Amino acid sequence: MPQISTAVPGPRSIALAERLRRVESPNVTYLAPDFPVFWDHAEGCLVTDVDGNRFLDVTSAFGVVGVGHNHPRVVAAVQEQAAKLLHGMGDVHPSEVKVQLCERIAGLVPIPHAQTILGQNGGDAVEAALKTAMLATGRPGVLAFENGYHGLTYGALDVTARPDFRGPFLPQLGGFTQHLPFGCSLASIGAHLQAHRPGAVLAEPIQGRGGIVVPPEGWLRGLRALCTETNTLLILDEIFTGWGRTGDWFACQFDGVIPDILCIGKAMGGGLPISACVASAELMSVWGVSTGEALHTSTFLGNPIACAASLAALEVLEEDNLPQRAALSGSVLAIGLHTLQTEFPLLITEVRGRGLMLGLEMVSPAIALPLVPAALRAGLILLPAGDGRVLEFVPPLVISEEQIAWCLTVLRHLLTEFA
Ligand SMILES: Cc1ncc(COP(=O)(O)O)c(C=O)c1O
Repeated sequence: MPQISTAVPGPRSIALAERLRRVESPNVTYLAPDFPVFWDHAEGCLVTDVDGNRFLDVTSAFGVVGVGHNHPRVVAAVQEQAAKLLHGMGDVHPSEVKVQLCERIAGLVPIPHAQTILGQNGGDAVEAALKTAMLATGRPGVLAFENGYHGLTYGALDVTARPDFRGPFLPQLGGFTQHLPFGCSLASIGAHLQAHRPGAVLAEPIQGRGGIVVPPEGWLRGLRALCTETNTLLILDEIFTGWGRTGDWFACQFDGVIPDILCIGKAMGGGLPISACVASAELMSVWGVSTGEALHTSTFLGNPIACAASLAALEVLEEDNLPQRAALSGSVLAIGLHTLQTEFPLLITEVRGRGLMLGLEMVSPAIALPLVPAALRAGLILLPAGDGRVLEFVPPLVISEEQIAWCLTVLRHLLTEFA
């Protein structure tokens, strides 16, 4: 369980912040008197900082450690692979683990006869998806949704809808994307597809960074039907929702929807940076067969250590039934959050989400944002989402009932103070 033994941040964290301030570009890490703590080591849902304080992490460190921090099977796989081969030539002389991982992905995703393009982060997967759609349809337009987050590289930024991220770079953006409100009427989407004929529609099944927003019942199925009718490709960004987080392996399975292209990342590496754009072999054939120079690749594509970590993480997810566990633990956490809402109706406006992807919406960012450093001082690592009014609860899928109960107790104390 968490244990705090110094002021938070402690003296070592403060000293590291001062050093970092001098050498890192100033917009990268948010440094304030009450934030952040510098991490030293972690295990399961617990993170220990450089001052020896132990925290409960309900962020999975950006949704990455679904299997928990430093899962022993992932660590062992990394160590074993590191002793053999650190780096391969991803698209020239690949390693065996790359083959194994692509096979494993093909067996787990809902797309039949799936083929992958590996990347290192979510943005890479989105770039590959956009290029696949362009090659397949010849139609450059993309319909994406307000509040959506798909990464910050230029292609991904074009589809990402947050004005704060896009604003300074608008003159360099491709401008191929149009955005409609997430969850808007299917009739308006149908009209848009007819009028503008984009090659692809891109959506998160549940918006993550946008504030844990679940679309209306049947919306994703409707989107699928509209795409099929208009010969538009449906790209689902399951970088956050994938790998058991929402209680299904992939959130689209809850709605019985199969996308044309699936973007995956975050939790698939068990903590190492790896992602993939996945589509059927038929759709992937639009790339043509390499004659010696890949049209889309990168130096570290299919890095052997990341592939080995991913194989281990996917094994753990499967053998420990973590998607099912996320559904069960998610309902326990959701009940607790709903109870808090009834106790603090003037502070909390909504609890939403599915599985272990839950959001607590507060009346204003002025209430939600100060809770983040206050929770940190109490031993709870939290992140805000959306416009700052939402607190994200996306813990490792291995979180225990005792840890959930502890988290709810801390929140109750904090909310009582704030009230
Ligand atoms: C849904 C979704 N797509 C894409 C990304 C971008 O991933 P990355 O930061 O690894 O590039 C994120 C990151 O939070 C995300 O949540």
